[in-house]
Amino acid sequence: MNTIFRGKDFITTQEWSKDQLETVFDLSREFKLKFAQNDYTDHILRARTLFMMFFEQSTRTRNSIEAGMTQLGGHAHDLTPDKLQISHGEVARDTAKVLSRFGHGIAIRYCDYGIGNKYLRTLAENSDIPIINMQDDFYHPLQGLADLMTIREKLGDPRGVKITISWAYATSHAKPLSVPQTQALLFSRYGMDVTFAYPREFPLMEPIMEQAKKNAEDSGGKLRITHDMDEGFADAQIVIPKSWGGFLGVEDPYSEEGKAQMKENLEKNKDWICDERRMGLADKNAYYMHALPADRGNEVTDPVIDGPQSIVYDEAENRLHTAKAIMALTMGGRP
Ligand code: CP
Repeated sequence: MNTIFRGKDFITTQEWSKDQLETVFDLSREFKLKFAQNDYTDHILRARTLFMMFFEQSTRTRNSIEAGMTQLGGHAHDLTPDKLQISHGEVARDTAKVLSRFGHGIAIRYCDYGIGNKYLRTLAENSDIPIINMQDDFYHPLQGLADLMTIREKLGDPRGVKITISWAYATSHAKPLSVPQTQALLFSRYGMDVTFAYPREFPLMEPIMEQAKKNAEDSGGKLRITHDMDEGFADAQIVIPKSWGGFLGVEDPYSEEGKAQMKENLEKNKDWICDERRMGLADKNAYYMHALPADRGNEVTDPVIDGPQSIVYDEAENRLHTAKAIMALTMGGRP
């Protein structure tokens, strides 16, 4: 294992080796223990600046990163397109080159389908400082790290752990594909027994799922797909029922016809909810996870998300510790 991380982009977990990810998990754990003891870590990124660019709303990502930068001794600028000349058409290349002259990292959330990841990649090509993906249309690697850290805290070695990632009905908004796709890529590298359950109208991206299958073959894990939520829940040790948009289930998700078809596909699958009956199909000690925000009453019932099997707040807390590890390694670390 080498210890040189400074300047490395964090756009997907797949682009980081298992050794590198293990360093991230070790450091996350160290930061968590220091946080618990109120031990200072503010020498690590002292006087360093992270530019956070949010094209969408955020509770966990924004606040874990901003709090994390403060705890590491640096500062995070909370930027939105209207605060930048992006709103007047400034291109990604110019934004990346100029921010590279001022600070030490650029973090972006941009989830518009077919646009976000391309924008991040253009920033990365033109930036001299690391790019951190705070969620795009295809990937949410910071969420994936927190999820896997939480799973290891609860169950230890993830190899062979039976985990089900299920689509669920939601009316709040068409959520990106990024969380389930990141989980597919990451959990499959750790030998987990992964089941995906989703209605046929809500497929995930084929190249990503193919890569996840290959990861599972390489790690001794499993990856299977079902289109029946009950079947997906059977005997699972962890369930992660969460909505994602049906972007791939229609020809053009931005056309009027596409939007109408997506709505129709959504309404057909209202019964895809995580309730107490479905939790009863899973292992009796099964954990319920969700990246949050959850669409209560649609994706999940209150007794489940507020019940004893739910670990959503532990999962959310780990967003802080894992984000600090990524920032410390990519923006600090060895020169
Ligand atoms: N899970 C997650 O990314 O939450 P936010 O959208 O609030 O950042």
